[in-house]
Amino acid sequence: MNKPTVINIGLCGLGTVGQGVWKHIERSLPELKARFGVKLELYRAAVKDPKKPRSVEIPASKLTTDALAVATDPHVHIVCELIGGTTLARDVTLAALKAGKIVVSANKALLCEHGVEIFAAAKKHGGHFLFEASVAGGIPIIKALREGLIANRFTLIYGILNGTCNYILTRMVKEGAPYAEILADAKRLGYAEADEALDVQGWDAAHKASILAYLAHGVWVKTDQMIVDGISRITQTDLKMAAQLGYCIKLLAVITRDFATNEISVRVHPTLLPKDAVLANVNSVFNAISVTGDVVGTTTYIGRGAGQDATASAVISDIADAITLLTAGKAVVACAPSENQLRGGAEAPKLAPLGHIRSRYYLRMTVKDEPGVLAQIATITAESSVSIATVIQMAAERPDAASLILTTHQSDERAIRHTLTDIAKLDCVLEPPLLLRIGDFQE
Ligand code: NDP
Ligand code: HSE
Repeated sequence: MNKPTVINIGLCGLGTVGQGVWKHIERSLPELKARFGVKLELYRAAVKDPKKPRSVEIPASKLTTDALAVATDPHVHIVCELIGGTTLARDVTLAALKAGKIVVSANKALLCEHGVEIFAAAKKHGGHFLFEASVAGGIPIIKALREGLIANRFTLIYGILNGTCNYILTRMVKEGAPYAEILADAKRLGYAEADEALDVQGWDAAHKASILAYLAHGVWVKTDQMIVDGISRITQTDLKMAAQLGYCIKLLAVITRDFATNEISVRVHPTLLPKDAVLANVNSVFNAISVTGDVVGTTTYIGRGAGQDATASAVISDIADAITLLTAGKAVVACAPSENQLRGGAEAPKLAPLGHIRSRYYLRMTVKDEPGVLAQIATITAESSVSIATVIQMAAERPDAASLILTTHQSDERAIRHTLTDIAKLDCVLEPPLLLRIGDFQE
């Protein structure tokens, strides 16, 4: 193998993350050179609008609007795809892999949607695809799962995987600030996706959960095979009620595997966590992931989950792996157990039916404030064999109504969905009920 003496990096995208990568690589060029014995060059960058003001100084000669030209430039060794989305980003990624290059990506949506195609292209053409920044920002969770915890079979992985949602929920609790105002701040701070619906509706966390499930179990679970709920319907009433009941509300991704049945499940939903749980105390833009393996037990990882610097830190760790690949020829450990499973003859896990997933539930209903309402609702829960644990009634935001909050004992998704559908049909119920899960994780 011819070892390059200069390694050229091409950035496709120079927005929040791209500028962070540029800034921190530029700052640490001497250290990186000393560490790897090779010169690094920030060679080219593709953007949409070359005239846009940026926080880093880049010679105009290095800027282009042609991302594919950067991806296929024969002088570029490492291509960082930091554009986002699943169209141009996919073309850029596949073109670079087909040219045998190393692609470093922060793009969880792309990986979740096209992971099979991307890894196949990398394998076929001798390229590499590295994606530490795609999950949990600055937390090295990909490395932890792929390398540090390689001895383990994972029964439970759950965590806060979306910084924007955690930032919103935290400020709603601490300041009582309006949701829309906090979301606007999350955008300004560079935490939110270009399409913020991906964050607040739970899709971004679902993309990340899909990647973690792949790393842990070797199968791609698509978002339409998961439960995915977001935070956009959570109100001050829910946050206050949760606190009164001894909980915090966090948007969690939960990945389970039952090795007896060989079934896995993946879900994302706002969850009531007991106030003293570690993850209940992880606030603002921070993410946290609890990983339970059969050898190590439970390990927990906490750090900034979004934003320029934390994400750049993760991208640069992949760039360091890429340099090692280019200079020492060291392969990155196979990213998922699937290849090992095939060698070992183990069967890939199946998806557990979503209706079988069990939990305790929190239900908030806006109902007419009149006699007989509770009895109608209790009849429906009884018919679905959903057992009520607590009932609280309080004034609703609208004058003619009351908020009715139920918590249930353990039930399953099929029964609770049935209950919700029937409750929503009652004349006394004025808005679609809100369903939250109560998280009692046995690690
Ligand atoms: P931004 O929207 O800030 O940046 C996107 C960049 O892509 C911009 O520089 C933009 O150019 C460029 N771009 C867009 N369209 C084109 C095009 N047609 N041709 C060339 N360049 C184009 O996004 P982020 O930096 O926030 O996110 C990038 C990726 O990183 C996404 O996949 C995101 O999900 C992921 N990510 C983001 C994190 C964060 O905290 N922000 C954290 C972890 C992952 P221009 O500047 O001229 O508009
Ligand atoms: N929008 C994402 C978040 C960025 O808020 O978590 C990090 O992936």
